[in-house]
Amino acid sequence: MPETPKKSYYITTPIYYPSGNPHIGHCYTTVACDTIARLRRMQGFDVMFLTGTDEHGQKIEQKAAEAGVTPKEYVDEIVETFKSLWARMNIRYDRYIRTTDDYHIKTVQKIFRELYDRGYIYKGEYKGKYCTPCESFWTQSQLDENGCCPECHRPVAEAKEEAYFMKMSPFADRIEKLLTETDYLQPKTRVVELVNNFIKPGLEDLCVSRTSFTWGIPVDFDEGHVIYVWMDALSNYISALGYENDTYSDYDTFWPADLHMVAKDIMRFHAITWPAILMALDLPLPKHLAVHGWITFNGQKMSKSLGNVVDPFLLADRYGADAIRYHILREMALGADSSFSNEIMINRINSDLANGLGNLISRTVAMADKYFGSTLPSERESGALDSELAEMATGLKGKLEELLDKTQLNQILIEIFQVVSRANKYIDETTPWILGKDETKKARLATVLYHLLETIRIISIPLSTFMPETMPKVWEQIGAGEAETQYDTIGTFGVLPQNVTVHKGKILFPRIDVEKEIDELNQLILQSHPKEEPKEPEFTPQPLEPEIDIEQFGTVDLRVAKVVECEKVKKSKKLLRLQLDDGMGGRQVVSGIAPWYQPEDLIGKKIILVANLKPAKLCGVESCGMICASDMPNGDVKVIFPDDALPVGAKIR
Ligand code: MSP
Repeated sequence: MPETPKKSYYITTPIYYPSGNPHIGHCYTTVACDTIARLRRMQGFDVMFLTGTDEHGQKIEQKAAEAGVTPKEYVDEIVETFKSLWARMNIRYDRYIRTTDDYHIKTVQKIFRELYDRGYIYKGEYKGKYCTPCESFWTQSQLDENGCCPECHRPVAEAKEEAYFMKMSPFADRIEKLLTETDYLQPKTRVVELVNNFIKPGLEDLCVSRTSFTWGIPVDFDEGHVIYVWMDALSNYISALGYENDTYSDYDTFWPADLHMVAKDIMRFHAITWPAILMALDLPLPKHLAVHGWITFNGQKMSKSLGNVVDPFLLADRYGADAIRYHILREMALGADSSFSNEIMINRINSDLANGLGNLISRTVAMADKYFGSTLPSERESGALDSELAEMATGLKGKLEELLDKTQLNQILIEIFQVVSRANKYIDETTPWILGKDETKKARLATVLYHLLETIRIISIPLSTFMPETMPKVWEQIGAGEAETQYDTIGTFGVLPQNVTVHKGKILFPRIDVEKEIDELNQLILQSHPKEEPKEPEFTPQPLEPEIDIEQFGTVDLRVAKVVECEKVKKSKKLLRLQLDDGMGGRQVVSGIAPWYQPEDLIGKKIILVANLKPAKLCGVESCGMICASDMPNGDVKVIFPDDALPVGAKIR
């Protein structure tokens, strides 16, 4: 009989910016996709799981320049760290794409040209706001209340340059329908913000080339232009399959993708830009886009500049990759943020893994070992609670499949751990340690232990996709072989042989001493990730004035004076009027420092006065002298405040 071909399943993570080392926030999507890929493989799908790195753009160019290396040298090193993290986290991807790979570069150039030839890309001039860290263009109306980037809230810069644009309006209706009338976007609650913020106000044409930096894929028919990083990055999902290149030939098998998974900050690009590009190319659209929230720390998205990153290598070394995988997947409900704390993580490891699951396994195996010398007898005697436990365990399969289709991994774990709790309660209710003392109750005891082993077997199968390192150890302990750990056996109770043999093993999840551990961990985290101090901007001093002699300097009379009154000069945005005590009867000075100082910042402060400067009128207000100040590299002005011990009127020499 010819084998029926396997159904394909294509799942992708975003491709990561190698602009700094990865943190636990980066792990979420990759661990989630890895778990889904493992579940789908187990279900019999032919899976393609793609991840990779998005290596072009101005931010990388700048970081490399700061580090004194070429952009490629810079990314090469960080890409290795990403790959070693994925290995540490037991991520089993099928393909890794780097946007600096030759085949990808050629594919993106072909896509760009194709869109140009089809009339969807045209040349124009870009004027607008650009956020360098996010590599995103924004319109005025999209900026936040402070006129900053709506994603990262950092200042945006005016940008004006010759650029190519992609027409977006031809796709607006289809995109709106995709979002509102299909189950493309998960969770559906996010549709409203997309439609209201981007589609209803009218989809603006997308600027798809830049000329102000070079670290990007060149437009091959117009020198000086590099292709917009998002067009480059999004295309990875098809170039990695071999679309318009000969490096791979998996496009026909795997496109359209079954699931793109991303965090909320890049939803817009996957919900609007990517479908528009595909529509313009006349290609099928991906089936689902799952959008999750952020792992936050102290209420903010983890970020190196905030000094709140949590190092996944450090956590995996202390607790094992499985515990970390479990924790992040259990904590994050699709659509919501999840706040990371060492305390929550350790408590969860203790309660769910050490006390719940670990205890269930070690008690069951220890009792089978103690009362039956590790091999259960075949005699059985059923009891009241047996079928309830068995039904709950076998009922998992249907629930799991439904939740998996909705990408609700944390709910799958909740369901599984309800079975764990039920099984632990079953132990308390059936009291096997009492049955064990009575020779006439051995058949009943064997039934109880068999029910427990079967329950453990059933839950361990889906759990092996969340915790791939530990579950094979569980199988060893409960005596389950390959045939008894196949996906389809989740729905059947009684798969282990009646006289199964268990093997007592090591404790799978040791209990952690919470207080001691948190102290140690906080120390370690601080040591390994000191907050990044903002770098002093580069400053080039102005050229020196021509030399003067000491007599000439002596003609400038600099005095210490104290500000006694201060107010803004009416009708002027720049000027402050200061009334000074100069130790010589007082005087009024006008100074152009209003943009940087409020009057109350200065009242009572001592300053340095150029006391013999000819009086002048500024905005009609007389100024007798000048206050010493200096310029910051960013254009701000700082007043020079002398030592407060100096008396007013003291001469500076
Ligand atoms: N290069 C783009 C993606 C291009 S996909 C065609 C990018 N890279 S990124 O490295 O900045 O982020 C990759 C993913 O990690 C994004 O989904 C981002 O939201 C996610 N996360 C980064 N920090 C995160 C948390 N703290 N929590 C959860 N996800 C986080 O964006």
